[in-house]
Amino acid sequence: MKDNVENIQSIWLSREDSKIIEIIDQRFLPHQLIIEQLKTWKDSERAIREMHVRGAPLIGVTAAYGMYLACLEAKAHSNKDAFFLDVANGLKASRPTAVNLAWAVDRQLALINTLKNADEIITASLSLAKKISDEEIENCAKIGQYGLDLLQPLIAKKKGEPLNILTHCNAGWLACVQHGTATAPMYAAHQLGIPIHVWVDETRPRNQGARLTAWELGQAGIPHTVIPDNTGGHLMQHGLVDCCIVGSDRTTRTGDVANKIGTYLKALAAHDNKIPFYVALPGSTFDWEIRDGVKEIPIEERNSKEVKFIQGLYEKNIIKVLVSPPESPAVNFGFDVTPAHLVTRLITERGVCQANEASINELFPEY
Ligand code: MRU
Repeated sequence: MKDNVENIQSIWLSREDSKIIEIIDQRFLPHQLIIEQLKTWKDSERAIREMHVRGAPLIGVTAAYGMYLACLEAKAHSNKDAFFLDVANGLKASRPTAVNLAWAVDRQLALINTLKNADEIITASLSLAKKISDEEIENCAKIGQYGLDLLQPLIAKKKGEPLNILTHCNAGWLACVQHGTATAPMYAAHQLGIPIHVWVDETRPRNQGARLTAWELGQAGIPHTVIPDNTGGHLMQHGLVDCCIVGSDRTTRTGDVANKIGTYLKALAAHDNKIPFYVALPGSTFDWEIRDGVKEIPIEERNSKEVKFIQGLYEKNIIKVLVSPPESPAVNFGFDVTPAHLVTRLITERGVCQANEASINELFPEY
């Protein structure tokens, strides 16, 4: 498939009907590009829970639009306060680790609570959802620029040879709205003609790397290679990785980073091989309430079927096949926590900082 996806976003308000939100249903990429319409807040909740949309910033934006859809439905409910609270709790529970979700829902709830008139609530909620979406687009673009500045010394050392970047999961535009977080510096470098090559961890069990990151990079013409998740350490030992850049689902105020399961192992290998390990994230991904990521970040546990089965294309159909013995139990933690001391730098829309409280606080003094 080689669709023109240059100007497409991962989520948008329908051009035909402002009561409908459209998303790319990411479950079928890269083999099928399917656009889905969300018409009720429950549609948004299901899209997040079943991972039609995924990635921390996009989950937040989808939840913000979900609150808007709830405002359209509120007229049918006599106790509006109770309804909005139910919706907010329902959306927040749909995926527990990415903090962008609660952040976006709480922003909407705070706004709705200041207003009384139903039409006013609808208008205000739509404009806040659009604002959150626009902010995330702008944040990602800035992350791209700050990230590129950070990479310049490494690029200079390569003397025209491609810079080899390893990434895990999908922290690209599909996980955000545009640009991506981890991928934004890659796009910025590529646009300037700086040669880069990306090692893409396949990212079992759902293969967001092999399916989504590889597809995005391919569409942008960025050289990349998909690798099994266990390959990174070997590549690092042999000088084939110049740096790692990953995204985050929740980062503590002390710099501990929750990201897709397996990120921690890459950070350990990078540390052992003295390779910079960068985490790109917008401000919405910080959880300012917590300090100890390992103890305090809730880690989503998903259905073990995602581990036991694998999805792919077979004779033009997307199918799932069983990998393990049917009776073997499996466990499926969605995320792990990389402690701050393994993170070389955080790349945010306000600049680059060290992964510690003082340095983060210099960029985000209001928290
Ligand atoms: O389970 P997913 O696909 O939602 O996990 C996504 C990730 O772990 C991303 O790396 C993270 O959300 C950062 S997205 C810019």
